[in-house]
Amino acid sequence: MEKYFIKTFGCQMNVYDSHRVAGLLEKRGLSAAERIEDADLVIFNTCHIREKAAEKLFSDLGRVILIKQERAAQGKDTVIGVMGCVVQAEDEQIFKRSAAVDFALGTLTYHRLPQILDDLAQKKAEMVIDTEFPAESKFDYLGENTSQGACSFIAIQEGCNNFCTYCVVPYTRGVETSRPVEDVVREARKLVSEGTLEINLLGQNVNSYHGEDALGKERNLAYLINKISEIDGLKRLRYTTSYPADVNDELIDCHKNVPILMPYLHLPVQSGSDRILKAMNRRHTAGEYLEVIAKLREANPALRFASDFIVGFPDESDEDFQATLDLADKVKFITAFSFKYSPRPGTPAAEYEHQVPEKIKKERLAVLQDKLFGYQLNFNKEMVGKIVPVLFEGDGRHKGQLTGRTPYMQNLYAEAGDECRGKIVNVKIETATMNSLSGTIAGD
Ligand code: SAH
Ligand code: SF4
Ligand code: F3S
Repeated sequence: MEKYFIKTFGCQMNVYDSHRVAGLLEKRGLSAAERIEDADLVIFNTCHIREKAAEKLFSDLGRVILIKQERAAQGKDTVIGVMGCVVQAEDEQIFKRSAAVDFALGTLTYHRLPQILDDLAQKKAEMVIDTEFPAESKFDYLGENTSQGACSFIAIQEGCNNFCTYCVVPYTRGVETSRPVEDVVREARKLVSEGTLEINLLGQNVNSYHGEDALGKERNLAYLINKISEIDGLKRLRYTTSYPADVNDELIDCHKNVPILMPYLHLPVQSGSDRILKAMNRRHTAGEYLEVIAKLREANPALRFASDFIVGFPDESDEDFQATLDLADKVKFITAFSFKYSPRPGTPAAEYEHQVPEKIKKERLAVLQDKLFGYQLNFNKEMVGKIVPVLFEGDGRHKGQLTGRTPYMQNLYAEAGDECRGKIVNVKIETATMNSLSGTIAGD
């Protein structure tokens, strides 16, 4: 095997996992293929969160079977693997649903990939699946994380104990576990020494982080943020995704006292109706959510918020939906991800009575998005004329152009020389659309 190709669906955690798996494969001497057709090993890292996300995998697998057949005609073998949340949810059914799959790895076992590849190569097995929730932590077996460029992710926490009634994550990622403080700090230092300027601490419920320090004492996210912020050369720090009821005062203080903590926070609310929040088994009311936002704003008036919304949860009435619109008006989120409720097999809400008809879900989503997109555009437009520090990462759409991110995670395009790549540079914002800004380099 020489070339691999990984296609990633789903959340940042999957993006991070794919990066770590790529690291494992490169250690074995494989390199990334530019096209799926050139790959001896194809891996799909999958998402089960909504029906559409899961279905995408099976249409992709249909296409990859044809590629496998074409390659076979040229005498080339192709190994096809599936990893991530769909595997955890479907288990052995995955082989029944697609004949293309040679191996399937759950979310907590991808460190066992080298062994699986060896077994397949030696024809010890026809098909291999591993969906265990193992006692060992995969992070202890993965080797070192490598820099992902100027912005790097570090998974610090995985799994979720919240069991929101619509959500598959507690089943696909298991119970909450946190990596030890020292492991995370070591990883952060290494990434910064390799040129990372911005670190994003990742977890499904990141602010319930409770990793052990060197003396075995449990520490929270605020402690970890303070520790990491001491690393010389690190310029920006973020964490995602947080659960509103787990935002404590120490974490709020970080937004006041840690200068490198960026003024942007993704804090999903899901609904503005207390009745629906209760049915969702969220441990917060709309009022409590707004209180957390108010406290955070007091700690840092520059702070702006992003959120997730679900419309058409079972039994959601027009009044409930109106409460969601009202909450969106109160917070004026600068970014938001909104979804039609998707019943997931095995979750309690899928069995609830009074499922909302698709037509109403669609209408409500359009109304909500109209509002959310309006606030997003307004915020972007407010930036025009301002000078903003931008961390440049990659190539822009045209030659001579680079793309980067503002402190508020806005995408920005600017004419910029290669010397700006991987650096934070001041930019004067010239134009704004809903999805991006453009500007000119403003120097010091
Ligand atoms: N751990 C994060 C994100 C979980 S999944 C958190 O708790 O905030 C990302 C988003 O997908 C959720 O915030 C929710 O808005 C949405 N989502 C989850 N399950 C869903 C479902 N069954 N139907 C529609 N949207 C869903
Ligand atoms: Fe899912 Fe709720 Fe956990 Fe988020 S907090 S991952 S929505 S169960
Ligand atoms: Fe999807 Fe799994 Fe992430 S279901 S959203 S890839 S945790």
